[in-house]
Amino acid sequence: MENTFPVSSNMALVPLPVQYTVVTVCIALVGYLILKLLQGSKLRLPPGPRGLPVIGHLHMLGKAPHQSLMLLAAKHGKIFRLKMGVFPTVVISSPDLAREVLKVQDQHLASRPTFESGKIMAYDNQSTSLTPLNDRWRFMRRIISTELVSAKRLEQSKSIRREELLDTLEDILTGGRAGVPVDFDAKLTALVLNQTTRFNFRRRYYGTKRTDVAEGAEAFQDLVKAIGGTSFFFPAEFFPFLKFLDLGGVETRLRELAHAADLFYSSILASHRNEDGTYIYREPFDRDFVDVLCTYQKESPNEITDQVIKAAIQDVIIASSSTSSATMIWVLAELMKQPQILREVQKELDTVVGKERLVDETDIANLPYLRAVLKEAFRLHPVLPLLIPHQSEVDVQIGGYDIPAKTRVMVNTYAIGRDPEVWKDPLDFNPGRFLGSAIDVKGQNFELLPFGAGRRMCVGYNLGLMTVENGLAQILHTCDISLPEGMTPKDVSMEEQSGASVTRADTLKLRVTPRLPAHVYVKAGINL
Ligand code: HEM
Repeated sequence: MENTFPVSSNMALVPLPVQYTVVTVCIALVGYLILKLLQGSKLRLPPGPRGLPVIGHLHMLGKAPHQSLMLLAAKHGKIFRLKMGVFPTVVISSPDLAREVLKVQDQHLASRPTFESGKIMAYDNQSTSLTPLNDRWRFMRRIISTELVSAKRLEQSKSIRREELLDTLEDILTGGRAGVPVDFDAKLTALVLNQTTRFNFRRRYYGTKRTDVAEGAEAFQDLVKAIGGTSFFFPAEFFPFLKFLDLGGVETRLRELAHAADLFYSSILASHRNEDGTYIYREPFDRDFVDVLCTYQKESPNEITDQVIKAAIQDVIIASSSTSSATMIWVLAELMKQPQILREVQKELDTVVGKERLVDETDIANLPYLRAVLKEAFRLHPVLPLLIPHQSEVDVQIGGYDIPAKTRVMVNTYAIGRDPEVWKDPLDFNPGRFLGSAIDVKGQNFELLPFGAGRRMCVGYNLGLMTVENGLAQILHTCDISLPEGMTPKDVSMEEQSGASVTRADTLKLRVTPRLPAHVYVKAGINL
């Protein structure tokens, strides 16, 4: 009879012992898969809302994911599970669970997922903030800690910070002279970026009275705006297999942006090298951050490639600009809503500093009310409300639930900051709650985590704090600020806008007049 099963006929040619082996392996494989499935069904996963086929829960995130996730927590609990496209995700919304994630199990949960946007925008996720937990990340974090934000380096950069701050004050005060409202968003973004780029690579891109604005300033400003406005919640981030469709043209836009950014970072790098590509030697005390990275590159060319340096330049520009100025704006907006708190801050400044000199960075330790105001703004308006997503590298348990390896973990600090089980009258802006309280923002108190905590905690938090505290203290001490004519405190909107960070949706425009005697400004070199 004709054989209609060629495979069987081929099998017949295989010696018997081999057939037994194949069958045994197949049975073992099936057994293993069944066991895995049974184990899987035994996992105690966190609860979660019912999702849709394919897209999971993406449709529930809306324009402000941190707000939507807070509402979901109210329904599904302080730990719940979602599927963001194809990625299993767990959202944490209580201080105790945040401690488990960021402290107790930190070593297993401090990695990062692979971001599609980071592949395009951050040289294949090579920036310190996006890179997984690996040796390069350790190396870069150490360099930033010792060479950018150490006490010694912060002391070295003090004069740059002060100079830029005084120039900005002059700009704000002269701008407001004729009663014209001053755009604080623009002024404070420029301030923080000038401080950052001057210290990191000796250039400034925003004009004040100084005329040394670098070539390409406009392009730089556009770039910062575009990156800041980019939301990383887009389809291909959650369905990498759909990337080729370039839905909404997002990927094309990101690629264009990445190209423009790369040209800019390359020019910064080139300005630190001779024409033959060798590094321009500078004495250690005279080195900026890029000089420092170049010297490390000489010693470890395989770890510190040009791409790693460019990713680091991008990291410090974005990390400092999209956070510090946005935080200052939230504080000023809250003070405009509650003039009695503004008066209280200014009373403290007048008592501690007086009206015969300007604030110095060393005064900040003696301004507890100002620092309490800032904590209150961090509580209600964390600019990175979901931190940067973490990822488990191994199976772990959180809150008694099983969290399989490769699950994304988000800590919703916004939800924690507004939880009535954690804070009394959580929606009130009441700095008094922090007076006499030991709660701080340095990653030890899990009810207040504006910088995160643990291994992935913001590596520049001390610089960020210094920038924000000083900026606010100087502005509130030297300027009387008030709302434009016709506006009352209740007109001040707290609507948010989600991009690279969560900023205030409206531009903050305020009237400004000097509040110190004229000779104090003259002595500080501020010409009014
Ligand atoms: C008010 C100012 C700032 C705020 C609120 C802030 C907040 C944060 C937050 C929430 C994270 C994520 C933590 C996590 O994923 O668990 C972070 C990470 C980071 N921040 Fe900041 N930041 C500020 C200023 C700065 C400054 C001035 C720098 C400059 C060096 C900086 C550099 C970084 C870097 C490099 C990371 C990534 C750390 C890592 O993944 O290991 N930040 N920041």
